[in-house]
Amino acid sequence: MDSVKERGLFYPPDPSSRGSCFIGGNIAENSGGPKAVKYGVVKDYVLNLEVVLPNGEVIWTGANVLKNSTGYNLTQLMVGSEGTLGIVTKIVLKLLPLPKYDLLMLVPFKSLEKASEAVSAIFRAGFTPSGLELVEIDALKIVSAMVDSHAVPVTDDIEAHLIIEVDGNNMDVLMQDMEQIAELTAQFEGGEVFFADDAQQKAELWKLRRRVAEAVKTSGYTIEEDTVVPRAELPKLIRGVKELGKQYGFHAVCYGHAGDGNLHIRINHPTIKNSHGSPEMTAALRALFQLVKSLGGTVSGEHGVGLIQKPYMDIVFRNANLELMRSIKRAFDPNNILNAGKIFDLA
Ligand code: LAC
Ligand code: ZN
Repeated sequence: MDSVKERGLFYPPDPSSRGSCFIGGNIAENSGGPKAVKYGVVKDYVLNLEVVLPNGEVIWTGANVLKNSTGYNLTQLMVGSEGTLGIVTKIVLKLLPLPKYDLLMLVPFKSLEKASEAVSAIFRAGFTPSGLELVEIDALKIVSAMVDSHAVPVTDDIEAHLIIEVDGNNMDVLMQDMEQIAELTAQFEGGEVFFADDAQQKAELWKLRRRVAEAVKTSGYTIEEDTVVPRAELPKLIRGVKELGKQYGFHAVCYGHAGDGNLHIRINHPTIKNSHGSPEMTAALRALFQLVKSLGGTVSGEHGVGLIQKPYMDIVFRNANLELMRSIKRAFDPNNILNAGKIFDLA
């Protein structure tokens, strides 16, 4: 990412784990990150892949072109297939011109639900931020303590913050957009806006946001769910998460890519630290994903399915969908030698 930047080019997918993840893993999971809200996710940048098939044959999935309507789209089939269909050995990506400027602001809200209501209002008003992240206050407190940062004052009357970024080539337009977005947030009881003035303040804010996952995990929020709903349904999802917490005896903290309706939910249960093998937590998570489905969403926005989300696939897919996926897996990998048991069971 940094090396294309030096040439004035831009590869937007920017997962929060960018310091430790690899591009192959990003393709396997179809990763997103904060810029997805304006620029899309990994799949939107992959043009062509060299893949070693389970039988040892090496193929290219597509062509190095911007448009392609030639047969089934094997490139996109590989993206997000979690290493179950083939091994990617070369990647051809699309790049964009690097936008010249970006502006970043942080808006505090007294109500988490109000913060989430502001999200869709920003788009309805005609803005397309290049980042629109939500961080619930408990997550911010934990991450600020972990990285010893005082960049964001944590006061008791605040429940959540929105981090809002705009980017482009015309500074006047960006300033105007930011001012108008700030005014809009006030209608949702947004508090005093903090504008990140320089590169250092921006980096500090993004550092806080990026390290949320690690911070909350190490402080007891060990169960991680990656939900996605249409963004206008976020308030209902958040309300539902809090109700489920009361019902099942856990504390949940919400954060993530609110602009995409992609909410990461971290669960801290006093005794259950892993959903795997826990009937009680599995029941709670089924209720969560049923809610997600009823709101028009699905099980994972950007983290994939793997083993942990596998028990919930039947909530969002009919058997016909799962059978099609199984047939594809068998066509690529009849001996089930690649990442067996991930996403769904074959039998
Ligand atoms: C994040 C990762 C966990 O957004 O997806 O922090
Ligand atoms: Zn994320």
